Amino acid sequence: MMTKLSVNINKIATLRNARGGNMPNVLQAALDLERFGAQGITVHPRPDERHIRYQDVYDLKPALSTEFNIEGYPNKAFLDLVLEILPAQVTLVPDPPEVLTSNAGWDTIKHQAFLTDVIGRLKAAGIRTSIFIETDEKMIRNAIKTGADRVELYTESYASNYLINKEEAIKPFVEAAIVANEVGLGLNAGHDLSLENLKYFADHIPGLLEVSIGHALISEALYLGLENTVQLYLNKLRK
Ligand code: PXP
Repeated sequence: MMTKLSVNINKIATLRNARGGNMPNVLQAALDLERFGAQGITVHPRPDERHIRYQDVYDLKPALSTEFNIEGYPNKAFLDLVLEILPAQVTLVPDPPEVLTSNAGWDTIKHQAFLTDVIGRLKAAGIRTSIFIETDEKMIRNAIKTGADRVELYTESYASNYLINKEEAIKPFVEAAIVANEVGLGLNAGHDLSLENLKYFADHIPGLLEVSIGHALISEALYLGLENTVQLYLNKLRK
């Protein structure tokens, strides 16, 4: 089983929005990423629409042929959007609207009732659900009670500790993956994964189904080109 690469295209929208026109074209970039081999496209529409706009989500849905993953905090506007769009997967993140980027996983104990309600509605609509989570065993064991199909491991601490000691950096993630596999939760991962740190992560995490990567991939593509960068990422994921 090869881990799927889902490319987060928020940064392409950020660049477009900087000038108000349609360059770069977010929809075309998504289609090109698919053509270059990406197995999924991820977007994170935020309430202030500072990168991906709600309209982008409507434009992308009928055009994409790979797995569409929409991330976000499940407020009413977000839930209305995803229940209309019906993407393959929704990844729930706990961040408040003003944060720069997702910076914590769910507390699946404190928010169990809320998550269970939201996930029930998404699953009734046929959408696979994943919840963004840290490596704490209690949170993973409790995640199963919310009805989530998968968890997405928040990899920021792996990425920053990788530079210091990669054997130590990976340990909590291997333990978390073993627990997720044991309780029957599918496993995704994302945040700050890059050409430098991805292979070590993918090689050591059992049952890793999907990674969602945006910031580093788009930044590296400035030097390497988008097609080449996607190929390099896919090579890192090959066993
Ligand atoms: N997963 C989640 C839940 C995120 O919020 C983000 C950032 O939007 C990512 C993955 C991708 O992180 P990065 O842009 O650092 O690759």
